[in-house]
Amino acid sequence: MDDLVYLCYKEAMPFTGSKYIKIKIVMKIFIDTANMKDIYDFLDIGLIDGVTTNPSLIAKTGENVEQVIKKICQTVKGPVSAEVVATNYKNMITEGKKLADIASNVVVKLPITWDGLKACFHLSQNNIKTNMTLCFSASQALLAAKAGATYVSPFIGRLDDIGQNGMSIIEETKEIYSNYEQLKTEILVASIRSINHLIDAAIIGAHIATVPPKIIQNLINHPLTDVGLDIFLKDYQQSQNRIKNDTT
Ligand code: E4P
Repeated sequence: MDDLVYLCYKEAMPFTGSKYIKIKIVMKIFIDTANMKDIYDFLDIGLIDGVTTNPSLIAKTGENVEQVIKKICQTVKGPVSAEVVATNYKNMITEGKKLADIASNVVVKLPITWDGLKACFHLSQNNIKTNMTLCFSASQALLAAKAGATYVSPFIGRLDDIGQNGMSIIEETKEIYSNYEQLKTEILVASIRSINHLIDAAIIGAHIATVPPKIIQNLINHPLTDVGLDIFLKDYQQSQNRIKNDTT
């Protein structure tokens, strides 16, 4: 646990006796959903630093992307990723600008394709924040950063699904970005399937993890917490009953 805390701060510290480097900002947690109920639930405990959506998540709401993104942005102060569905450069830019006009915290999500990178470069030059998605290699992550992306989203779970080690992309990308001060892109670990994915991302020192609601729930819950609480409450109740009986 101590290791995690040390790794959650940025900026070199004269930390004698530790191989770890402190960084100032704790890893941010975004929620990977377009569902307003999930967003409200987790906002209430102050856990959510931002939101990521994608066309599949928007489709589940049964509403159009503008409606959904507007609602999310009215509720969440942090960055909200909204993905373009256009696939050619010019249409990506038009659609990206339209999405960015919805609210000041919208981040335009673009796939890492030839056209997507061109659109990222153009939008970044125009001060529109971008999240380069569907990233499956460190080389793609390097290109996204060079195109000026605000965030890059490596999909670790989908790589694990096909028998590759998704987390190694995070390690490689982190190392590459750390080599060059000029690269300001934040690593947004996506396609998270388990608590271990989140812990490993924090150990590597990723900037952000976007987590599906079900996994956030699992992060909070532990059977021993429930059992322990049960015992505390029973013990307390028994002692109260004894006190009551002694005084009557
Ligand atoms: C992130 O931005 C993506 O929307 C998401 O993490 C994809 O996750 P999946 O592979 O579980 O669909």
